[in-house]
Amino acid sequence: MSAEGSSIEAVCVADPRVKVQNLKKVFNPKSVAIVGASSEPGKVGYQVLNNVIKNGFKGKIYPINKKAREILGVPSFPSLLDCPTDVDFVVIAVPAPMVEGVLKECAQKNVKGAVIITSGFSEIGKKKEEQALKDVADQYGIALLGPNTFGFVYTPSNLNASFGPQNVSPGKVAFISQSGALGISLMGWTMMEKIGLASVVSLGNKADIGEKELIEYFNDDPNVSVILIYMEGIKEGRQFMTTKIKKPVVILKSGTSSKGAQAAASHTGSLAGSDKIYTAAFNQLGMMRARTFTQAFGAACALSMPAPKGPDSLIITNGGGIGVSATDECENSGIKLLDDPAWLEGKFRPTMPEFGSTKNPIDVTGGGGREGYQKAVRVALNEERIHSVIVLYCETAVLDPVEVAKAVIDEYNAVKRNKPLVVTMVGGERSRQAIQILNENQIPAMTEVREAVSGLKALYTWQEISSRSKEKVVTQEAPVKALAVIDRVRQEGRTFLLEHESREVLEACGVPMPKWGFATTADEAVKVAEKTQMYPVAMKIASVDIIHKSDVGGVILNIKNAEEMQAKFNQMMETVKKNAPNANLLGVNLCQMVDGLQCIVGMNKDPQFGPAVMFGLGGIFVEVLKDVSFRIVPFSEQEAARQVSEIKAKKLLDGYRGQGAHKESIIKTLMAVQKIAEYVKEIDINPLITNKDGSYAVDARIII
Ligand code: COA
Repeated sequence: MSAEGSSIEAVCVADPRVKVQNLKKVFNPKSVAIVGASSEPGKVGYQVLNNVIKNGFKGKIYPINKKAREILGVPSFPSLLDCPTDVDFVVIAVPAPMVEGVLKECAQKNVKGAVIITSGFSEIGKKKEEQALKDVADQYGIALLGPNTFGFVYTPSNLNASFGPQNVSPGKVAFISQSGALGISLMGWTMMEKIGLASVVSLGNKADIGEKELIEYFNDDPNVSVILIYMEGIKEGRQFMTTKIKKPVVILKSGTSSKGAQAAASHTGSLAGSDKIYTAAFNQLGMMRARTFTQAFGAACALSMPAPKGPDSLIITNGGGIGVSATDECENSGIKLLDDPAWLEGKFRPTMPEFGSTKNPIDVTGGGGREGYQKAVRVALNEERIHSVIVLYCETAVLDPVEVAKAVIDEYNAVKRNKPLVVTMVGGERSRQAIQILNENQIPAMTEVREAVSGLKALYTWQEISSRSKEKVVTQEAPVKALAVIDRVRQEGRTFLLEHESREVLEACGVPMPKWGFATTADEAVKVAEKTQMYPVAMKIASVDIIHKSDVGGVILNIKNAEEMQAKFNQMMETVKKNAPNANLLGVNLCQMVDGLQCIVGMNKDPQFGPAVMFGLGGIFVEVLKDVSFRIVPFSEQEAARQVSEIKAKKLLDGYRGQGAHKESIIKTLMAVQKIAEYVKEIDINPLITNKDGSYAVDARIII
């Protein structure tokens, strides 16, 4: 495409790779211009320029202001085009009507990165105006942040291009926030807690650069080891699902439901609360979800630690109660505590008074003092059998928490940070101070046991995620036979498939079926059942006019032989004709009765993410407990296996009181329904009965 009216050649239009590459100019510019810089301290343009200067940015700084010739001691220029050198990156803080013009000047000046602070675009309904900005950015390959952002901070280049607080502590966590206000306040909170950050990015309206591009940029940024995102929602779910993850990503997402999901009609659909879909998306991408901001930052800090070399964790404490609470948390989150009492006694007895406990938790007791902690931590860090360490401290009058913190830091540095170590300190002001000292020394320290343990858990989770072998996600073709049935139904003007039609479609896709058949007369029903040795049989009426079959006497279970079949067929026809005189009766569906655990498999379309497949156990598990898991199409067989093991009642699947599930055929079902996900609106296999021999779609419904 040519760049009309401009001397600059437009690059590959909207190529996301170009945008990701150009983010380098945003975070590591040699020159920065602030358009809208002002000498008035109350103005945003003043604050941004002041932050850029005060944070010690080493490159060239160009304030742009129509009238001023100098602002905050820096020579100013009337326009970007007047800057004496190239400009890598521009902050735009002028009123909304002027923004597009300034962005066009960026293009003329060959600027490759810009952040638009200005509000007044899509967030107030001005979508066209925002699209115009996106169009310019696409045409010239400008990586564009915003509009409606507070800017960003990138500590490795001492660049604070925001109107947020100054002096963010350097660290390895990149924090991306969709909310401006929360972003600024959490920036302040991390400063107070002495949590170091590599970057804080305010996403604003995400006209161009969003989470995906930033994650992919930070993937290759050696200054970042963890990405933390505060998210409210995703604009392009399908595109988000293509994000490549190379580093741990922790997501804090607000909002639990969507109107789209509420509007979903079917039983399966009503469970597709979009929050569950988000959880599915995060799990599928290998992102970790946190529920509170303290948990999110705790996890992010822990994820900056070295990876554990094995599963065995050790707790060191000076209080029994807090030790028990950490033990509970470890068990709940699946962290294994090293359990070898004799070995622990040998190693840890010399670190504590006689009355201390050497069982894990190692209790150095209130009398252990700084020395007790120091010795115990030293043993824990030096012993290879211990793979991760949790240090707990309850404030006492005899031992200053700051002393404990210093002992931990000394020992940790002495072994060159060789394994993960997290700390919880419970107490007053001194404990708070000790936490800050630990954080300043890149040792994750928190006020709550739960957060320290969940931080450590995040490390183990990331280890599992990053060790997954490359999984092939193949978009599977829909079988011709299945499409033919769907087409025929569509041509008949129907929006739903009858049970036998649904079975034909799903069977063609590879969904495991019990023995089944369709019959229009009693004799035919007997023949079908005998030919396939189907008894005992469930018989269900087939009619496009009947939705709730059992209400009209259209379901008879457990038919045991030919004689019963004859009688029950006739009985059903009579009853249904009486209860639904206007219904056109096409025949009956016959299906072998199967015993086992009732599961449910469904497919529905999410407004953001498209087709999503649901799995859960039937009955109260799905209706009351809503214990279901989702995955977004397409997904791999390994992902389907993880989906199955994600439900809370997974122990029932593993086998409980003689009942167990046939996981291979459940996974096969989850893979099979994906094949027609694009062609239909909803699929409901309820129940899918599973036993040790296989799984069987006992009832199936498809809406197109
Ligand atoms: N080129 C150069 N200078 C320009 C210019 C242009 N095209 N257009 C305006 N300016 C100058 C102005 O003269 C002014 O300088 P001065 O103070 O010396 O007169 C300065 O740039 C700022 O323009 P002004 O018209 O005073 O705007 P403002 O500072 O009142 O507001 C915004 C500008 C961007 C801050 C405001 O429109 C806005 O969007 N505020 C909300 C920001 C926000 O909350 N973002 C989201 C956070 S999460």
